[in-house]
This record gives sequence, C-alpha cells and structure tokens, in this order.
Amino acid sequence: MSERDIVAALERRAGAKPEFRLSELQKDLGTGQSPEHLAGEIRPHLDSLGLTLRPSGDDYVITRRGAGCLTVDDAGRERQLAFFRNPEVPGYIQRLVESYIVRKTGKPWDDPAVLDRMANAILVQKSRYWKEQRVSYRKAYQVLGYLAYHAPVYLVQFEHIFWQVINRGLAKPNMRILDLGTGPGVVPLAVIDLLGRIGSGSAEVYAVERSQEHIEAYNALVPAAAAAQRNTVRVEKPIREDIGEITGRDLPDRIDLMVFSNVLGELRQMEIEQRADLVVALAGRLAPDGTIVVVEPADLANATAMRQTVRAIADRGLTIHSPCSFIWGTACNPARCWTFEQKGDIRPTRLMERLAEGKDGYRFMNVDIKYSSALLRKDALVQHAYRVPSGAKFARFSHLRRHVDRTINAVAALMSGNLGDDRTKVYKVCDGTPGDPVYAVIPATLRGPNRDALRDIAYGEIVQLYGVLVRFNKDHGAYNLVVLPGTRVEPVECPAGNGAGTEAA
Ligand SMILES: C[S@@+](CC[C@H](N)C(=O)[O-])C[C@H]1O[C@@H](n2cnc3c(N)ncnc32)[C@H](O)[C@@H]1O
Repeated sequence: MSERDIVAALERRAGAKPEFRLSELQKDLGTGQSPEHLAGEIRPHLDSLGLTLRPSGDDYVITRRGAGCLTVDDAGRERQLAFFRNPEVPGYIQRLVESYIVRKTGKPWDDPAVLDRMANAILVQKSRYWKEQRVSYRKAYQVLGYLAYHAPVYLVQFEHIFWQVINRGLAKPNMRILDLGTGPGVVPLAVIDLLGRIGSGSAEVYAVERSQEHIEAYNALVPAAAAAQRNTVRVEKPIREDIGEITGRDLPDRIDLMVFSNVLGELRQMEIEQRADLVVALAGRLAPDGTIVVVEPADLANATAMRQTVRAIADRGLTIHSPCSFIWGTACNPARCWTFEQKGDIRPTRLMERLAEGKDGYRFMNVDIKYSSALLRKDALVQHAYRVPSGAKFARFSHLRRHVDRTINAVAALMSGNLGDDRTKVYKVCDGTPGDPVYAVIPATLRGPNRDALRDIAYGEIVQLYGVLVRFNKDHGAYNLVVLPGTRVEPVECPAGNGAGTEAA
C-alpha cells in the first residue's frame, strides 16, 4: 500500500467523522500492519490534514482539530507522556518551594524545628478536613504544610486534567485562565510546567484567593516559575477576595478556562445549590467557547457532593462536557454517584521524604492521585454525542429492577477502573438514567478473553454489553451486571459533538 493511498484513506475517514479509531482506518486499508506502524506512517501528515492522534488502549484515536485549537507536536507530546510515566514535582518548582520556606522561617528548609512545625500543621489540617470543619490558611505553617503535603499531588493532578483539556480540543493556543481559590498557585504552576514542557501554547493566568499567606506563597512561586519557563505564561497579580463576594467587575472577561480545584468543597457554609449559583454567576465571565473545570478529592463525601454540585450547575443551563454522558437524554440523580479517576503515584518530593523520616512517617507521604472532576461548557459541546438509537434493544439502568436474574443488553459509560481485585473485577458503569449504582462484574470464576474485556476501556468511554446477567446486591443497594463467557463487550465509537437538547433539564 503506497503512502498516497494511506493518506487518501485517512482524508476520507476524517471527512466522514470528526473522531475515529486507527483500527477503523486499518479496516479501510485492509492491511495487516500493526497500529504502531500505521500510526508512524500517518504521523507526518496529521498537521497538514488538521488531525491529532492519541493512544487509547491498544488502539489510537484520531480527532479533527477544531479551528483555533492548541496543537502539540510529537516531541512535545512524548515529553509530556514521559512525564506522566514517572510523575514528580519538577526540580525547579521543588527548589522554589524550599527557598520560600527558607525565606519565611529564616532557617534551612530541612531544619528539624521547621520540619517539626510543618508536620504538626499537616496533622491539624488533615484532622480538621476529615471532621468537615473549615480549614484555615491564616498562619505561615498552615501554608507551608499545604505546600509540603497537598500541593505536590494536586499539581501533577492538574497536569492530567489540563492534558485532557488539550487532547479533547478544548485548549486554545493562547488561553486566558482564571483559577478560583488558587492557594499557593498550584493550578498556575501546573499550567506553566505543562506548557513549558510541550513547547507550544501560551496563557495569561488570573487567580483569586482570600488567604494573605497563600497569596504571599503565590507571589514567591508562580512568577518565578513562569520566568524559569521563558514566560510563555503571563502571570497577573492575584486578586485577594472571597469568591462568594467577588463581582464580575473584578474579573477579566472572555475566560477560556475557569478552574475550581479543591475549592468548592471548602465552601462549607454554602449548600450545594448555592455553590452551583456561584459557579453559574462566575460563568458569566467565560468566553462562549470556554470551559469550566471542577475538581475535588475522590473520597465518598467530596466526590458525591461534587457530582451533585455539577448536576445543579447543569440544571441551571450549563452542559456537562465530560466525563458523564447522558445517552438516553435523561437527567441523572447523583445522590449516590461515587466516581473518580486514578493516575500513577507521584515520586515524593525531597521535602516529603524528610518529613517522613521520623516516627509514623507514612502520615506525611501523599503520593496517590485520585480525583473526581468534570468539565462544563456554555455552548452545549459534549465529549460523546452518542445517543441510544430509538428502538435499540438495551435496558435502561433505571429499569433494572424488572430484569433481576435475567440476561440483558445494556449500554453505558465506564466510570471507574477496576474497583475489585485481580480475581473479581468490578467497574462502575452509568447510563445517565436515575437509579441505584450499577457495576459491571467479572467474576473470579470467569475464564477466557472476557476477563480483560473492560481493562483497556478509558474512563468515560461508552460500551455496549450484550448478554450480561443482572443481580441485585442487597448489602450495597446496587445492581451488578455479571459478565458471562458469552457476553459481548463492544466499545461505542462516538464523536464529540453538540449536546444541545440531549440532556433533559
Ligand atoms: C484546598 S485549597 C486548593 C488550592 C488549589 N486550588 C489546589 O488545588 O491546590 C482551597 C483554597 O481555596 C481558598 N478558599 C476557600 N474558600 C475561599 C473563598 N470563599 N474565597 C477565596 N478563596 C477561598 C483557600 O484559602 C485555599 O487556598
């Protein structure tokens, strides 16, 4: 097969669909080349055809680039993927944090007295957090503790989220970003670091924070990090204000990315509905094609509250772009929705290692990345525009009660990695209809290829499950869809698109 034939087939596919899998192109070509080999052949032509390519399990996804999207060249993409393979807070940011500790305390950053006070601050902060009390950032050591314990994982976590924003075609070459409740500037640091690494794109960053101590840390860290990355990110002076009281006049307009990272859950004095009102009011400053990111920790209480907040925001007219898909056109009920993403652990920072040297050191190690997030839009764009075709023989999850102990066909988004173990695999699935939680279960006794049927399906992707057995788990008030030897699991190919009218209010 000549290169010209391959490019022609690629053009035909891209003309027919804005997003497709490399395996579809393979089928069109009818050749037996490996996906890696075919990906290598088409790579040099992607830019000129306005396409992007990204790995997805054993396959690749090819997406038509929207006009005005940030693109990343192969070398930049490989550098960022290498970073995610061994994630850590980059050396220049660790050094900035250490220098800030020296400046604040007048002592070496690893002075035993400094470490001791930081350790105490971390323990107090953790206990207040779990008791659902208001967390305070008024004192220097509270912020130093935050920098030591929370900031490293949140920084790498936001790089994962920002990378998704880019890969989904939602980032612009020059973005205006507003980070609300920025703390010491974790989100701006992640943006600076990622854009510096990929070597394309620029941004101007605005931030709002009410704690003076955090603002002091922000001023010490963020502009210096931007300078270290050749100032591709312009850092505006942070606005000291309560986000509940800020008015549109204080904020820039036409914001491309508005971020609420680990902040809505801290608005403990506000009900879910008030939090949603606040986000919707601030969304007035969003560009018509801008994106809102909401992210919260993955524990049951925070993740569920976050899903309820996002639902309430959608009820006020914004669209959930991802990870949720409303494939039946119904509104969900997230009262029991516990879904989160998990990424590879980060390497501990030098500071974390020193804090963990003493007794009960594990209490100062915070390296795992688990978060609950959502992207929202004003323009009704959704990640998956797939709708269940009318007349299709799939059972809605809200009707599972009728099908207990029977075999059914279902279609749903995969909303977790394996929550079970290597023997019994358990995956959360959701079809957007309101009801009890539903899990796809691969029993320990199942042998054959279906054991790995869900392993390579990405979080949020939609799958058809033909021939699963419905069981009700009384202990958990949840349904299990048991995968059998004869069950067929087929990912659904679903392009991004306009979700206008796809979601019932
Ligand atoms: C858990 S930290 C998150 C910091 C950063 N966004 C991150 O992801 O690491 C929450 C931040 O929100 C700030 N915050 C909480 N409530 C706020 C409010 N009403 N107005 C402004 N900032 C607020 C806190 O001071 C703190 O810096």
